[in-house]
Amino acid sequence: MENADIFGENLAPLRQLEEGLTIILGSAGYPMEKINSHLLYSSGKRIRPALFYLALGFWGEEPASHLPVALAIELIHTATLVHDDVVDCSVKRRGNLTINAAWGQQTAVLTGDYLFAEAFSLLATYGNIGVIQKMAALVKEISEGEIQQQQECYRADISFADYYGRISKKTARFFSACTSCAGLVSGVDNESLTALSEYGFHLGMAFQIIDDLLDFLGSEEVTGKPVGGDLRQGILTLPVLHLLTISPHSEEFATRISSRQIDDQFILKITQEMKAYKCLEYVQAVAAGFIRQASIDAGRLPSHPNRKTLKQLGNFIVDRRF
Ligand code: IPE
Ligand code: IPE
Ligand code: MG
Ligand code: MG
Repeated sequence: MENADIFGENLAPLRQLEEGLTIILGSAGYPMEKINSHLLYSSGKRIRPALFYLALGFWGEEPASHLPVALAIELIHTATLVHDDVVDCSVKRRGNLTINAAWGQQTAVLTGDYLFAEAFSLLATYGNIGVIQKMAALVKEISEGEIQQQQECYRADISFADYYGRISKKTARFFSACTSCAGLVSGVDNESLTALSEYGFHLGMAFQIIDDLLDFLGSEEVTGKPVGGDLRQGILTLPVLHLLTISPHSEEFATRISSRQIDDQFILKITQEMKAYKCLEYVQAVAAGFIRQASIDAGRLPSHPNRKTLKQLGNFIVDRRF
């Protein structure tokens, strides 16, 4: 499925976003130009700014006047990915080399900082204090989620609650911030703001759960990221946690994980068991549960054609392969 199928008439503001990103990143001279053009060339799905625009549409706001927020959202997302690839030691992102793989860890850390600063500079000029506070709080939460993930590495005894807490901080809060910011800049009532925030949160939970599933059962050509990367780094996600509750080999698996004996053969074995024990179906059902909640949240928003698009987005997220 292409962006055009999901976002319909909301594609026009997304084109403005691309132009804006090209101007901002493309206008930086030495020593950023090569890194920035790599970032521009290797672009993602733009799902977070799209969410912001979709939510904005409910109150008839002119998208162009809120472009800085959409740009800041995508720049903050990019910064978190650049840093995430450093901490995950990832070499591939969006089908291309990561910044750390191409320029080294040090440059990648600094590039992430540069992108954060660019984003907050845009938000400062835009001048909505509520939005600045929300995005600053978000960056703290993502950092906490990522730090929690580091502290839980190779721990086969983490609970489902630990996992859900971690993904809510590192991903769901971001989706929630995108929809909430649209409400903030439109000056909506508290009820709508809560519905927007909860819709984004539930969608984001499903999004990360499916991302964690694709890490095992997706294909590298489609996702642009190598298979099994999470477990190789000792990161336990929902498909593994579920497998550990049902596989007859769970004790052996837990021992291998906590003693850090994770090689390609082990990942293959885990993936095969996941298929045998229908982990895909389980994880998809959990994600679908969050999407159902998101759909109810969307129903609490004013009547508008974007309500249908928000619901379709939920289906796309559960069915996605990239
Ligand atoms: C990747 O997000 C990080 C997660 C929260 C799983 P996306 O899948 O939205 O990344 P891009 O921007 O499309 O590459
Ligand atoms: C989401 O987690 C990353 C951030 C919150 C920055 P992942 O580690 O699962 O993201 P991918 O799989 O590398 O895109
Ligand atoms: Mg990662
Ligand atoms: Mg992932």
